[in-house]
Amino acid sequence: MAYENILVDTRGKVGLVTLHRPKQMNALNDALVDELARALDAFEADENIGCIVITGSDKAFAAGADIAAMAGFSYMDAYKGDYITRNWERLKTCRKPVIAAVAGFALGGGCEMAMMCDMIFAADNAKFGQPEIKLGTLPGAGGTQRLPRAVGKSKAMDLCLTGRFMDAAEAEKAGLVARIYPAERLLEEALKAAQTIAGFSLPVAMMIKESVNRAFESSLHEGLLFERRVFHAAFALEDQKEGMQAFLEKRQPVFNNN
Ligand code: HXC
Repeated sequence: MAYENILVDTRGKVGLVTLHRPKQMNALNDALVDELARALDAFEADENIGCIVITGSDKAFAAGADIAAMAGFSYMDAYKGDYITRNWERLKTCRKPVIAAVAGFALGGGCEMAMMCDMIFAADNAKFGQPEIKLGTLPGAGGTQRLPRAVGKSKAMDLCLTGRFMDAAEAEKAGLVARIYPAERLLEEALKAAQTIAGFSLPVAMMIKESVNRAFESSLHEGLLFERRVFHAAFALEDQKEGMQAFLEKRQPVFNNN
């Protein structure tokens, strides 16, 4: 089935999803989120893909949930329809690493989507915010939970309660953003980092992603136990034998994802 709200492409071992509702600043609706879930299913099933990049346009990563679509909702429309969020967790359950390459606005659901990715690279024109309060509502796809984990309580309260936007420099300083690039280099640099990740052992990258995510889902004790078990398990990998042998033989490793 063709995609109508996103563009899907591969660049070497990297899967690229471009959010594409240009007239609405990539505002998110059910159709877009369903298509994203389908694209992730396909990339996860493709053995050749080792990392995924999600991006938008130079003006907007995504300006939030589609306000026109939800403005007239009743409680039951929202509750039964589970607008936007019925397939939202698919991004969270993606086992391969995902980079969000954010230029322009990442607001509301757009900021929440970027925060579900494993790291955010921002263009110098990026603007992040949870401005739902200005619409008489609140973040509904993780903003009140993931933002404080990323930037701390005080700044999360500031952004959610005032609705103000945070620029790329502030977002990097606060820990939301991993790297900033000039807008014209953003995608190239995100793809380069994704290509680097995809060149390593995929099972190891998946183990690292799972372990880092444990830091947000468990106590330190449990997280450390989890990491130790996975570290021990990695000795079962051919890629561990190859990686360490290559180091000792002073050559580049050739990983086979086993
Ligand atoms: C629907 C949107 C939209 C949105 C922009 N547009 N954001 N349409 N939903 N979230 C549309 C505008 O209506 C307009 O359409 C066109 O995109 C260009 O937008 P402008 O406002 O003319 O551009 P500009 O002046 O540059 O301002 C850009 C902007 C502003 C700062 C991004 O559009 C804005 O504040 N958008 C809303 C941001 C927001 O509140 N997001 C949170 C949504 S709630 P026309 O047809 O006039 O050209 C949410 C909750 C998630 O995300 C919970 C999920 C469960």
